[in-house]
Amino acid sequence: MSDQEQFVMAEQADRGGAPAVYVVGVGMTQFGKQPDRTPEDLGREAVWAALQDAAIDPRKIEAAYCGHVYQGMAVGQRVMAQVGLAGIPVTNVENVCSSGATAIHGGYLAIRAGECDVVLALGVECLTGRFRGALAPEEGDFEALQGMTMPSIYAMRARRHMETYGTTAEQLARVSVKNKRNASLNPYAQFKKAVTLEEVMASRPIAEPLKLMECSPVSDGAAAVVLMSERAVRALAARKPTRLAAVALLSGTYEPGLTDMAFEPLTWRTAQVAYARAGVGPEDIGFAEVHDCFSSAEVLRVEGLGLVPRGEYPRFVEAGHADIGGKLPINPSGGLLGKGHPLGATGVAQVVELVRQLRGEAGPRQIDGAKAGLAHCRGGKAAGIEGAACTIAILTA
Ligand code: COA
Repeated sequence: MSDQEQFVMAEQADRGGAPAVYVVGVGMTQFGKQPDRTPEDLGREAVWAALQDAAIDPRKIEAAYCGHVYQGMAVGQRVMAQVGLAGIPVTNVENVCSSGATAIHGGYLAIRAGECDVVLALGVECLTGRFRGALAPEEGDFEALQGMTMPSIYAMRARRHMETYGTTAEQLARVSVKNKRNASLNPYAQFKKAVTLEEVMASRPIAEPLKLMECSPVSDGAAAVVLMSERAVRALAARKPTRLAAVALLSGTYEPGLTDMAFEPLTWRTAQVAYARAGVGPEDIGFAEVHDCFSSAEVLRVEGLGLVPRGEYPRFVEAGHADIGGKLPINPSGGLLGKGHPLGATGVAQVVELVRQLRGEAGPRQIDGAKAGLAHCRGGKAAGIEGAACTIAILTA
């Protein structure tokens, strides 16, 4: 690690004495193909559900942060106006797939800084009316314009993992089997049908070795959470709060020349900040929601987080250790592969799942004795840097 990286990490981790942050309300819409619904309509439903779950007077909300990628100007204000909360400070954030998680990061920082006691973070995205097939690259991204789109990047990374660690195509496909099985237990998920290994392997090739069922779909949806400081919890909270022990956000460093395609330094670096802030290590994490935009992505993320040693996650999945009921359940919600991936809403929906699990409200997906969970998002790419944004939240019961 360079001196500059060490400095950034020390600065990010050292915030002793700042107010503790809690999640007191969560809500989300159905994820899936909903081309007739608008961002305002989806956002309103998610925000209202979170406010009802928190059981507080909506007028207690002091500020809102809204994550989205393609929803145009002032989408956060458009949603807040729908729920009667016009007039408060609203910040719209775009950080590709980490947009929703970056909204939570904004709310977390506002409370940690002592500026606010009650903050709403939401994420919203309507994609199916806009895209068919792979998401269109930005015009300035010369790598993407030459073919480095999301499916091709994760296919190359899958190949490198296969070459380096002997991972098989079947082992990768098992990630999708697991996540779609979990999604079949989640009423909010886009895909409600479990699939077999044979069905995944027989699905249409997208970018070899990745098949259609190993790609997250294009989705519409919204999610929201209500965050509170400790003193607001004491004064206002109607239900048991869940501690938001840490949120970390980093962006990719310059990436000259060939890189290690089988490992994610950005995920690893962000995890070090999150663990330091939360005062925990990977051994304390009982389950995780990770950014499985492709089957190979889940492998890179779990290994990058240090939850499983490098090169071993595909065999870990094959042995059933990442299942609900296994040693370390990964993506109990169904993940992006099963629940769907409305970009801006994804990071918020991950925290919704963590809270439901930590409260013991996850129904048939419930993980026994869940005490500490981690949510990981990694947003997009930009030519010349390792990744656009990486966000990690750690929650404790
Ligand atoms: N599992 C199961 N079925 C899937 C699926 C999946 N992961 N993805 C799509 N489908 C289904 C669709 O529901 C659709 O079924 P329908 O016709 O009954 O509605 C069918 O397959 C075709 O879907 P469609 O979206 O039209 O496929 P496509 O060929 O246009 O696009 C991908 C497929 C994989 C290229 C596209 O979904 C994609 O690019 N996904 C990744 C998105 C992404 O990059 N997100 C950001 C990552 S960081």
